[in-house]
Amino acid sequence: MTDLAFRGDVVPLRKPAPEPSEFGAAMLAGLDRANKWVSAKFFYDTAGSQLFDRITELPEYYPTRTEMGLLQTHVQEIARLIGPDATLIEFGAGSSRKVALLLDALERPRAYEPVDISGEYLHEVAKKLRETRPALAVHPIVADFTKPFALPGGDARRIGFFPGSTIGNFDRADALAFLRRAARMLKGGGLLIGVDLVKDPARLHAAYNDAAGVTEAFNKNLLVRANRELEADFDLDAFAHYAFYNPSMRRIEMHLVSLTTQCVSLCGRRIFFAEGETIHTESSYKYTVEGFAALAEEAGFVSRKVWCDAGGLFSVHWLEAGA
Ligand SMILES: C[S@@+](CC[C@H](N)C(=O)[O-])C[C@H]1O[C@@H](n2cnc3c(N)ncnc32)[C@H](O)[C@@H]1O
Repeated sequence: MTDLAFRGDVVPLRKPAPEPSEFGAAMLAGLDRANKWVSAKFFYDTAGSQLFDRITELPEYYPTRTEMGLLQTHVQEIARLIGPDATLIEFGAGSSRKVALLLDALERPRAYEPVDISGEYLHEVAKKLRETRPALAVHPIVADFTKPFALPGGDARRIGFFPGSTIGNFDRADALAFLRRAARMLKGGGLLIGVDLVKDPARLHAAYNDAAGVTEAFNKNLLVRANRELEADFDLDAFAHYAFYNPSMRRIEMHLVSLTTQCVSLCGRRIFFAEGETIHTESSYKYTVEGFAALAEEAGFVSRKVWCDAGGLFSVHWLEAGA
């Protein structure tokens, strides 16, 4: 007999279920809704980050090539606008490939602070960067940039870098909230941000439905991750990748469609899916140049300069955060 029972306390017959992780809680809440939805930030474990890197190399995926081209062409002007002795904070740094262009051109960058939710991958990338640039102070920050987070102190001017049109994953209200927080964080400095543009829907459709099926694997990584981390039993063949451009919302929507009526276990719960029901896994909003500049100004930035490619596919904005 245990001491507890001896004292007459109630001994639970079964251990209470552990509190679900943030990912588990978000999946349970999102899959409980009439329109099932999960934030795109949960794609990004290490496998998700690696799959995203493969997407950036695909022939159909124009954003990375176009943005890199813009940065390469205008890097001297960008470096002049950023100025010397800046601390560079990259939001959603991923592979940190694009920042190399800036670091080569900047005058005496003080430090590079990549922020990402995909912690293991972030540390791997930061380690490689330290090896190739031993003179640069690299301070990786594992954080969710949709919430407030702390930055290392220091008196250097802060410059934000937010490439890849990751801002497009937010709806308008969340984009505005992010930009407002960024404007406060970067006071006295600025933000260099890549924004994908409204264009021919066929071009957009191809970019999110690549022939090699890498975007499909990236989308399904959400289920793979849930199976590994949340004791879920998603059958990957029972869900299909579905991405399309919604012109009235000016956004790509990415979904996982249930191909049959089925029940899935997750965190000890059973989730019902009707045939054809979808989980909305990502939105990617597309902007006009004027529309995005207006949003940035509403958030407290001054829109100083915009660079676009000749085909009007993508834009890079330089926004100043007043003193
Ligand atoms: C679309 S990828 C862009 C990667 C890279 N910046 C580029 O331009 O190719 C989005 C990146 O943001 C990170 N990310 C997504 N949501 C995040 C969040 N809420 N907080 C922090 N990082 C996030 C992902 O892990 C990923 O590295």
